[in-house]
Amino acid sequence: MVSSASPSSEIVGLGSYVPQKVMTNQELESIMDTTDEWIRTRTGISERRVADVTEGTSDLAVAACRDALQDAGLRAKDLDLMIVATCTPDYFMPGLGVLIQNKLGCRPIPAIDLRGQCSGFAWALSTADAYSKMADYQYILVVGSDLQTRILDYSLDGRNSAVLFGDGAGACVLKVKKTLGESQPSGLLDHILGSDGSGFSHLMVPRPGCQANNSSFISHNDIDSKKTAPYMDGRQVFKYASYYMEKTVTELMARNKLSIDDIDLIIPHQANLRLSKILKTKLGIPPEKMVSVIEKFGNTTSASLPLCFVEARQSGKLKKGSLIITTTFGSGFTWGGNLIRW
Ligand code: COA
Repeated sequence: MVSSASPSSEIVGLGSYVPQKVMTNQELESIMDTTDEWIRTRTGISERRVADVTEGTSDLAVAACRDALQDAGLRAKDLDLMIVATCTPDYFMPGLGVLIQNKLGCRPIPAIDLRGQCSGFAWALSTADAYSKMADYQYILVVGSDLQTRILDYSLDGRNSAVLFGDGAGACVLKVKKTLGESQPSGLLDHILGSDGSGFSHLMVPRPGCQANNSSFISHNDIDSKKTAPYMDGRQVFKYASYYMEKTVTELMARNKLSIDDIDLIIPHQANLRLSKILKTKLGIPPEKMVSVIEKFGNTTSASLPLCFVEARQSGKLKKGSLIITTTFGSGFTWGGNLIRW
């Protein structure tokens, strides 16, 4: 079984936010060449949320953070550190974290931005856990917020990605635990992180940027040729996602001497319902141990895991003492997962 030999952190507050506006598959049918049937059979998605023009990624994040702070019974001024995962920040510079820190009214704490795309929240949890072991922090806020719908290409060229993504944010407040040697350790217990940059071109937003052989950060041609929208080779991404999401779960179980019977919940990144089904079949996971929100939110990138935590808690699947494994995959390629005793 899992053991705890050093200080660790536990989740004491959970929050989320999704924009009010719902975009159904039928609405997508009316603006691009797609069908509800194609989207539901290929991805499991029925609808997704779309941010209002008055909202930015930081606003989605702040709403989720306030929810998490209230859940923890804390104020923004109680926070000692913030780790923020996003790949759609308000600005290229500065990062999203400082905007959230300011809008929330935190003390001048470090607000660290982290890139991991759809693996961002799993990476942020593991980063926060590492800080909890090496510095004198008490409360750490972990945030995932993405606003993908504003960069999608809703024309024929972009339809394989445009139907997948939705907007949303989630946050967890971690409390650093000082007690060691518990008989049943709780909180963040173990993490797996990985990346393979040779796959970067299979899922990317090519422009703007500071790559070689581009004299400008962005050009009119970049915009006209839709280079500012995500490009995705769906089949390649699917193949790698399916492999690494399963590998993450099996490795986390193997090195902690656990079987599926010991796990209460598997929380996969919500990229495609078919990916979750493959994971369920390959590992023999009973349906009641899986969590899914993709039907109503689509792929919300770094908000995907915390939106699942919230759903699992609301539905009664996630209880004090539940043993959870998360598993993610994203652009990069990146992957990762967490073992958590709630
Ligand atoms: N509506 C209708 N048809 C569409 C479509 C859409 N939104 N998007 C693509 N198609 C068409 C394609 O043009 C293609 O047509 P063709 O056979 O005439 O050439 C056909 O559907 C099949 O396309 P393909 O891309 O091979 O489909 P797929 O079965 O691989 O499903 C995805 C596409 C995107 C759903 C799937 O590849 C996937 O989910 N990949 C992983 C995506 C992911 O997880 N990304 C995020 C990772 S964090």
